[in-house]
Amino acid sequence: AEPGWTETTDVLVVGSGVAGLTAALYLRESGLHVTVVTKVNIDDGSTRWAQGGIAAVLDPLDTPEAHAFDTEIAGVGLCDPAAVRVLVEEGPARIRELMRIGAEFDRNDDGSLMLTREGGHRADRIVHAGGDATGAEVQRALHAAVHRDPWIRLVEHALVLDLLRASDGRVCGITLHVLGEGSEDGVGSILARAVVLATGGMGQIFASTTNPAVSTGDGVALALRAGAKVTDVEFVQFHPTSFVTASVTSVQRPLISEALRGEGAHLVDETGKRFMVGQHELAELAPRDVVAKGIHRVLRATGADHVYLDARHLGKEFLEQRFPTIVASTRAAGVDPATELIPVAPAAHYASGGVRTDLAGRTSIPGLYACGEVACTGVHGANRLASNSLLEGLVFSRRIADDIARDLPPQADPVAQAGGPGWVVSPAVRADLQRSMTRGAGVLRSADSLAATAKELSRLGEQHGRPNNASWEATNLLTVASALVASASERRETRGCHWREDYPNALDEWRGHLLDAIDNAGHL
Ligand code: SIN
Repeated sequence: AEPGWTETTDVLVVGSGVAGLTAALYLRESGLHVTVVTKVNIDDGSTRWAQGGIAAVLDPLDTPEAHAFDTEIAGVGLCDPAAVRVLVEEGPARIRELMRIGAEFDRNDDGSLMLTREGGHRADRIVHAGGDATGAEVQRALHAAVHRDPWIRLVEHALVLDLLRASDGRVCGITLHVLGEGSEDGVGSILARAVVLATGGMGQIFASTTNPAVSTGDGVALALRAGAKVTDVEFVQFHPTSFVTASVTSVQRPLISEALRGEGAHLVDETGKRFMVGQHELAELAPRDVVAKGIHRVLRATGADHVYLDARHLGKEFLEQRFPTIVASTRAAGVDPATELIPVAPAAHYASGGVRTDLAGRTSIPGLYACGEVACTGVHGANRLASNSLLEGLVFSRRIADDIARDLPPQADPVAQAGGPGWVVSPAVRADLQRSMTRGAGVLRSADSLAATAKELSRLGEQHGRPNNASWEATNLLTVASALVASASERRETRGCHWREDYPNALDEWRGHLLDAIDNAGHL
C-alpha cells in the first residue's frame, strides 16, 4: 500500500515490551528523538505476563561462569558463547539500572534481593517482583519512565508493515497501518535514521500458548519479506506448565510459573506418581524441553490432556504471598492450589530463534536492529534457559543504543519499499492454522506430520482477504509458521525444544544453524 502520510524521527522502535521500552530509554541518553510504535496498547505485549523473574548473578557465591554454563547446557550446543558471555556479564548492571528507573523487586528481611531458582539453573539467581508478577512490575516501571520523557513519542494501534530502504540499501523507515483518527488513519510511513525491531514472539501460531493475542510474529515476518537473515525458528519452546481449564477459552493460557516448582511443587500423573524423578538429575527442575517432553510422554500414554502440579505441601499462606497471580487465576477457575492439584500441560511459550543479530543487535540489513524475543542473538541456542528472556532484552537494548549513538547516519530518502507478497490472507484462517501447527509442528514432530502441516498451510494461503490489520496479522502468522515448518522439516535430529519422533537423537552434523536457508517467502 502507498503511504498516505509521513513523519520523521531519529530512531524508530517497533514494540513496547521490555526490549522496546528499554531501547527507547537508553537511546534518550544520547539525546536522540525516539518514536515507539506498538500494535495495540503500550502494555499489551508479553512482558507483563512474565511471572518467574529475571536471571542474573547477584549472589556473591554465584558466578557469571556458572550462569553461562547453565545457559549453554539448556541451549544444547547451539548457543553462541560470546553472546552468552555478554548476557551473563552485563546482566547484573542492567538490572541495577532497571531498579534505578523505578522497578521494585522482592527483598529479604535484611534488604537484600530475594533470589529464586527455576528449571535448568543450578543456583538461586532469579529476581522477582510482587511474588510472581515480575513482568507486570517491569512493564509498569518502564511505561512510567517512557511516559515521563516528552521526547519519546508513542504511537499505539499501529501495525508495522514493511521496511523503507535508501538507495544504498540501508533501512530509512517503515510503513505502518494506524487505526487512528483523522489524518493518522490508514497506511503511513515513519522515516528514521535507524529502526529497532522489538516486536516480541510468535506463540499465536499454535492453538495454545502463554503468549497474548498480539504475539503474531510480525517482526520475523517483516524481516523475512525484507530478506534479513532469520535463524533457529524451529526452536519454539513449550512451557511445561500452562493451566488447563475449560473456563479459559482463549488461545492464551494462564502460565503456572516454573518458580512454583523452584519453590518445591511436584509434577504428578493421575496416580500421584512423580514421573520426572529418575528422568533427569534435576527432576521437575530439569531444563524446560526435558520437562515438556516428560509431560508429553505421560499425555500420550494416558490419552489425558493434562498432568498435575502438586503445590499443596507449600501451604496456603506461602502460596498466597509468594504466588498471588497464580493463586488468583487458578481460584478464578475453581481450583485452589492450597488444597487441590493444578491441571497443567505444555503450551507454546518462547521463540528461541528469530532475526539474526550480532553482539550490537545489528541484523544483516544496515540500519535495522532487533532486540528481545524477535531477535536471535545466539544466547538461547536450541532452548532458552528460564528467566533469560527479560534479561536478554535489557542487555541487548543497551548495546543497540550504544551502537546507534556511535554511528548514526543522516536521514536518507526512501527509494523502494521492500515488498510484501502483494496479497494478504483472510483472518478466518487463523484458528485452522493454529490447530494445524499444534497437531503437526508442536511439541512432537515427524517428517509426515510436518509435510501434512506444510500442505495445510499452503491450502490456507490460498484464502485471501482484504488488507486490514487482522489480515496482515494472519499473513504474518502464515509466513512465520511456514518458515518454522520448513526449518523443522530440514532439521533431521532432536535437539532442545525441536523434538523429531523419526530422528530421536541430537546429531553432531546438525550442530549448527539453518542460517541463510529460509527464503523471503518463509520457505527453505
Ligand atoms: C516462568 O515463570 O515459568 C516463566 C519464566 C520464563 O519463561 O523464563
